[in-house]
Amino acid sequence: MSALNPAFHPILEPLAWARTPSAGCSRSRAGCGHAEVNVTSVPRDAQLGPSVEEAARDWNSFRAAFPTTERFTYLDTARKGLVPVWVEAAMRSWMADVYDNAGFKAFSMEETETARAEIASTFGAPTQCVALIKNTSEGMNIIAQGLGIQPGENVVISANEHENNTFPWRYLGGKGIDVRILPADENAMIPLDAYARAIDRKTRVVSVAWVSYGAGIRSNISEIAGLARQHSALTVVDGIQATGILNQRVDTLGADAVICGGHKTLLSLAGAGFIYMREDLIGDIAPSYAAKFSFTSLDRTVPDLRLAPDARRFEYGNPNFLGIWAQCNSARIIRKVGLDRIEQRVRTLSDRLIAGLDTLGIRVRTPRPWEQRAGIISMDFRRRAGEVVERLEQQRIIVSERDKFVRASLYACNNEADIDTLLNAAEWLKGN
Ligand SMILES: Cc1ncc(COP(=O)(O)O)c(C=O)c1O
Repeated sequence: MSALNPAFHPILEPLAWARTPSAGCSRSRAGCGHAEVNVTSVPRDAQLGPSVEEAARDWNSFRAAFPTTERFTYLDTARKGLVPVWVEAAMRSWMADVYDNAGFKAFSMEETETARAEIASTFGAPTQCVALIKNTSEGMNIIAQGLGIQPGENVVISANEHENNTFPWRYLGGKGIDVRILPADENAMIPLDAYARAIDRKTRVVSVAWVSYGAGIRSNISEIAGLARQHSALTVVDGIQATGILNQRVDTLGADAVICGGHKTLLSLAGAGFIYMREDLIGDIAPSYAAKFSFTSLDRTVPDLRLAPDARRFEYGNPNFLGIWAQCNSARIIRKVGLDRIEQRVRTLSDRLIAGLDTLGIRVRTPRPWEQRAGIISMDFRRRAGEVVERLEQQRIIVSERDKFVRASLYACNNEADIDTLLNAAEWLKGN
């Protein structure tokens, strides 16, 4: 067994803490009388990957951390983000802690607090405003069910929203709440006017994707939030197609809450996401679920139960320790690589794709200005999208069909060769 190089595997650095005999007990381990713990090994040699420092300097090194890119032209991050070797290393270090330390850190709520701080720092929010939740759906439901929306009131969404930013609100429709779904125009755009007309004094929530999953349209959140605020309505943002690509703090978007699953550009695992909520809104949301970790005290005999005043009120039982551990590590990595650099890289690659599609005469549905898009490019091949997706897949080019069009979605692990491979295949498809 080999000792892991902490330069390759930054999560290992804090594991040194676990070796300190005086380390305090975590909230999840009652009465742990640890004399000595020893985390020096992993179950088998760690997959050799680039160091994060190397990857932060050079995109080829960054790409080398994503072995899938050697086998596929993977342009489907908007469906599932590829998982880098650093996550494998993090997961192994988690297992190593279980094996060697009886999970002293792996099952520790203190580690969860570290993750909260790392995620808050990377994506731009006060730590106390971040709750570690399962996915976008859970975040939407926390608000949909916890805000106390009454029959006769309404919620505004649009036809561009993903299922998981639609069903949580449509579910309220069955309870007498008016769910207003704005139609998209022929270019999949929802004009700001449509929001202005739909929002009224009975509107409680406007829920909108930062970047839409189909046509890849980036919404102007601050303008939509401005309209909502005029009627004291909240703006809730589905951030999953933008967070981790766009270099903007989530707490500066103008939204009241931003919700993000972990399995795309957070470089994490499904089941480990987060919600940011504006601090003075937290107290207005009564969580539908509550348990040990939702309250100010862990003592179940306290006479008066008080919900945590911060975003921890939205958490309850034992969390997804492994997913959170991975996400903590990935948040550190994203910060080291730099969201500014990631955004620039995705922009450069997507510009190249759009220019190539223009040359081939393939219609791009996604708006051109960078301020109106991010990593998704929706393409109209003027033939059945499913067939295009299948034929590309036969060439190991992975894209998706969304809303009857072909969607390529890019991340910083892609390179110019990926774009050119897709363009060459697209040209070939025109004549075949
Ligand atoms: C815009 C958008 N929202 C939400 C989701 C997923 O929701 P959840 O995180 O609840 O699985 C996706 C894709 O998986 C998406 O593209």
